[in-house]
Amino acid sequence: MVQATPLLLVLFLALVAHGLAVKKCSLTGRWVNDLGSNMTITTVNGNGAFAGSYHTAVTATSNEIKVSPLQGSMQKSPNQKGQPTFGFTVNWSFSDSITVFTGQCFVDEYGKEVLKTMWLLRSRVENIKNDWKATRVGTNVFTRLQTQE
Ligand code: BTN
Repeated sequence: MVQATPLLLVLFLALVAHGLAVKKCSLTGRWVNDLGSNMTITTVNGNGAFAGSYHTAVTATSNEIKVSPLQGSMQKSPNQKGQPTFGFTVNWSFSDSITVFTGQCFVDEYGKEVLKTMWLLRSRVENIKNDWKATRVGTNVFTRLQTQE
């Protein structure tokens, strides 16, 4: 009869090794999106709150683009399994607008981290009659900016 104990031990070790090998997605660092915009997330604290800066490549205005601050929050529940959901707000320093992003930090099939997001860009309009045209919606995909070796 086949001994069960060594088999269980091998199974246990395989599971532990798999658990250690699964790469987690981290929000901290420098990112670039499909429009060429750059984003830096400097800190994520113990509660999941984070901050950083955003340099957009495009604008809906005719203003000169400036680096703008962002503030966000990442889900900390154990169910996130290393691929956390998050949201952040960019308060544009060169326009009257605000953008909110929501998304998830994934590790793709090649082990590369990717942020899949959707956003709402709220522009200021002069009066309530123009409210209908004040909000744009879209998606952005961010990949990590590689550091020079
Ligand atoms: C503005 O035009 O009033 C502020 C800049 C908005 C830039 C938008 S936010 C969503 C989209 N993703 C980017 O990286 N840039 C644009």
